[in-house]
Amino acid sequence: MVKIALLGHGVVGTGVVKVIKNKADQLFELTGEQIEVKSVLVRHDYDVDYKEKFIYSFDEILNDEEISIVVEAIGGTEPAYRYVKSALLAGKSVVTSNKELVAKHGFELMNIADEKNINFMFEAAVGGAIPVIHGVRNCLKANKVHSIAGILNGTTNYILTKMIDEKQSFDVALKAAQELGYAEADPSADVDGIDTCRKICILADIIYGNHILPENVYTEGIRNVRIEDVDILKLVGGAIKLLGVAKRTEDNKLFIMTAPHVVFNQGILYAANDVFNAAQLETDNAGLMAFYGRGAGSLPTASAVVNDIVECVCADGTIYPAWEDEKPENVADYKDVPMQFYVNVSDKADKVENAFETAEIIYIKESTAFITEKITENRLNEKLKDFTVNSIVRVL
Ligand code: HSE
Repeated sequence: MVKIALLGHGVVGTGVVKVIKNKADQLFELTGEQIEVKSVLVRHDYDVDYKEKFIYSFDEILNDEEISIVVEAIGGTEPAYRYVKSALLAGKSVVTSNKELVAKHGFELMNIADEKNINFMFEAAVGGAIPVIHGVRNCLKANKVHSIAGILNGTTNYILTKMIDEKQSFDVALKAAQELGYAEADPSADVDGIDTCRKICILADIIYGNHILPENVYTEGIRNVRIEDVDILKLVGGAIKLLGVAKRTEDNKLFIMTAPHVVFNQGILYAANDVFNAAQLETDNAGLMAFYGRGAGSLPTASAVVNDIVECVCADGTIYPAWEDEKPENVADYKDVPMQFYVNVSDKADKVENAFETAEIIYIKESTAFITEKITENRLNEKLKDFTVNSIVRVL
């Protein structure tokens, strides 16, 4: 028998209880152990048929020698960080869905797990149900990953889909995302790109091997996405998606950012709508590849959590080594890295043609919209000095 404790009883916590109960036989077959949720740390009671498991003090879990795995589903960094760190120091493996915690403290927590020869697992922290962390850790050992670009936030992808396809207002779409259990407690973390930023940092930590703190990453959310631009881009097979992007630059630095990007209709990033997440990787041997699935919601997230629990139960010591500490000098200034941009200006097309000789003009009506050649953001801003700019969106 393996006894686990669950910290938190929200969208993720309730999903974990359900999946462990519904899959008891399958989990036994996989691990040779009965997996029991012994305790659930809550702040107040809920009307469920396992109320006897509710406890109100983390110390009870910490001091309970029967509990070998702690599942953290509280979210945020306090008290989650304190609890997770104490659990690891006490020799209990930890499984979490908490991207803020991993993005901020992953380096330290993985090192503690390593020292104690136990596990700190967080598949559910990125991409909900999608095994993208396992994929990049386990399945690309024969590859160098040149780049990763992902739709990593279900709430914003859901909101953009509803606003574009069903002409819902932002507020109505956000409310629905909250009711479906997709949004963060403070949904500005979704809408302003903070959640995506945490997730692309975690993926970049794994792929490129150094801890990257979200506060050092340029982050822009979806508040300024204009439906006019979405409609213009549709005419040329483009869509606007909130992406986390990380790649190696020519001088071997890491370029990383979170921002709305134009994607074109030949790939998974264009096709991923609603709460679905997708991550597209360019690698040397495997070439282009993608991961796709539900990025948020109770059971999809619990699916990833429970998979991690199974791995902890079956593990003989630490499975995944920690990444290295920060090396801020290895991170490129995003304004110096050339890329293409979609630009919408109120100026006439001939003015655009004079300033941007190789730009592709895609729309001439009440405004002029064009896609630039590859150019740095610094240079773009210089060139646009005399224009009346309505919007600029990066192109993947
Ligand atoms: N708020 C997050 C999202 C939850 O919408 O993707 C899953 O991490």
